[in-house]
Amino acid sequence: MPAEIKNLKDLKNTEYSLKKLFSEAEDFLPLLGTDYVELYVGNAKQAAHYYKTAFGFQSLAYAGLETGVKDRVSYVLQQGKIRIVLTSPLQKGGAINKHIDLHGDGVKVVALWVEDATAAFNETTKRGAKPYQKPTVDKDEHGEVVTSGIYTYGETVHMFIERKNYKGTFLPGFKSWESHYNPEPVGLKFIDHMVGNVGWNEMNTWCKFYGEVMGFAQIISFADDDIATDYTALMSKVMSNGNGRVKFPINEPAKGIKKSQIEEYLDFYNGPGVQHIAVATDDIVATVSAMRDRGVEFLYVPDEYYDDLLERVGEIDEDVEVLKKHGILIDRDEEGYLLQLFTKTIVDRPTMFIEVIQRKGAQSFGVGNFKALFEAIEREQALRGTL
Ligand code: FE2
Repeated sequence: MPAEIKNLKDLKNTEYSLKKLFSEAEDFLPLLGTDYVELYVGNAKQAAHYYKTAFGFQSLAYAGLETGVKDRVSYVLQQGKIRIVLTSPLQKGGAINKHIDLHGDGVKVVALWVEDATAAFNETTKRGAKPYQKPTVDKDEHGEVVTSGIYTYGETVHMFIERKNYKGTFLPGFKSWESHYNPEPVGLKFIDHMVGNVGWNEMNTWCKFYGEVMGFAQIISFADDDIATDYTALMSKVMSNGNGRVKFPINEPAKGIKKSQIEEYLDFYNGPGVQHIAVATDDIVATVSAMRDRGVEFLYVPDEYYDDLLERVGEIDEDVEVLKKHGILIDRDEEGYLLQLFTKTIVDRPTMFIEVIQRKGAQSFGVGNFKALFEAIEREQALRGTL
């Protein structure tokens, strides 16, 4: 798990002392971590094959006609502490179909692991959260799980998962999924952060939601002039829960000469949603090499990025030539440095992508790389004719 968030003290761009923030942060919603991320996709069987092959996820659990589920099929994949659920509808005209029609393949559920899903529901709805699912107990021979859910931005929901009385593979209703095809993992350990894109002027509304409804604190803020390129701009604030295990940066578009990448996302996703999932590795060079070999496409960074790299970030353990070969970006803050790289969008619409991140002390989000990153995204937008 990431280091305690209090280490972020004195980080540049932090608006308040974190100590103050977390003494103010109410722990009415203690979170043990991210439980799973569920995507609604057009063809879960084929998507599961892609996530296994390209990203090294392992088969974990399955639900569908064979397990008595009539309206949907779900494949559950795991790597390190990351669990991904891929769900497709089996019938016409339902809520999942509508979600896919509107948004394309995308994240529906960011599930959070809690001690008490009933309390999580009561505490958040009491503070204004829109209910998605009342606390529900599901049982099988392995025990029981209590789940509940609330809406966040767009049609995205947070499920609360209480599994302390459960010994099964995933959730009741799922069976273990044994497969003869098990590509090696690529070293992905846990979800470092998940970013939401929201509409014009909605960033503060949703930061307020995470603050007031979920007891999160704002740890970092980026104004548009921090992260504007010549063309496109956005604003971002990072919200964290009290133990720092769950971090949600929230982006909104800002005015630029051309269309913001956030605006492009909103146009194609038809509203707010999850923009990227950042996954942590202990060895980004090995992880990225393996992913690249398996067909994952990453954003391209010009060689000039590396010309003055060591002047910008100081001494690093890695060989700059190796980083350059893979296009890995580096940024430093007061506590150390981080290495990161972003895939191109991994679904048909230009919406969701994956970030691979390795932290070597730094607890920030790579603000020094934003310009290079956004210019790389703009090159992709230009190819799509959406800049
Ligand atoms: Fe990120």
